[in-house]
Amino acid sequence: MIIAIDGPAGAGKSTVAKILAKKLGFLYIDTGAMYRALTLKVLERNIPINDEPRIIQLSQGVKIDLRDNLDGPLTVILDGEDVSLAIRKARITRFVSDVAKIKQVRQVLVKMQRKFGQKRNCVLDGRDIGTVVFPRAQKKFFIDASAGVRVKRRFQELIGLGQKVTENEVAKDLTNRDKIDSTRQASPLRQAPEAIYIDTTDLSIEQVVEKMFNLCKLSRT
Ligand code: CDP
Repeated sequence: MIIAIDGPAGAGKSTVAKILAKKLGFLYIDTGAMYRALTLKVLERNIPINDEPRIIQLSQGVKIDLRDNLDGPLTVILDGEDVSLAIRKARITRFVSDVAKIKQVRQVLVKMQRKFGQKRNCVLDGRDIGTVVFPRAQKKFFIDASAGVRVKRRFQELIGLGQKVTENEVAKDLTNRDKIDSTRQASPLRQAPEAIYIDTTDLSIEQVVEKMFNLCKLSRT
């Protein structure tokens, strides 16, 4: 069974996806972490962010692994190295949408995501899971929240990670990424017609997970 979760930046997708996967005993796949890992590699190699041919070539040789530790955060392995923390840095966040908008890059990563999903029951979160990666997913969700709440949540999360950011910087980043992610040519952020829309603005994490869990249980029986 595949559960697809899409939505804009900072809506809380990965938090609820991880808890939901654990409750269901499914594997959790953070597809955004894969785009972030590739972006890290692009920046490490000093490849200019507009050099699409080199970025495409790099994506074709990259190895990204995700290890779902049941209690801790997801471990992201890039070419054998643990990059879980490095991919959350502001520099990566700033450029990730420019890497993710490249069609041929998406083709490579989508292939990897489908491979993960073929092996086991999975919960995947991203921007194009229900529309492109797994259009036949048994359950699809679109998780949203007001812009103000999304900024607050992401700000708190980054402060928790020890990063020095201001709410203003976070707001700018979310606006910029949402714009690129939803206006790009290749698989833009869209709600799949059959996805269940959840506005989490006034809901706690537990309430969102509970709602999703009950809906998933219903479709398993
Ligand atoms: O910051 P947030 O957790 O909302 O984003 P993320 O899930 O870590 O994804 C980072 C970026 O990767 C997004 O802003 C998109 O540009 C890109 N992405 C994508 O294009 N398609 C996906 N399936 C997942 C992420």
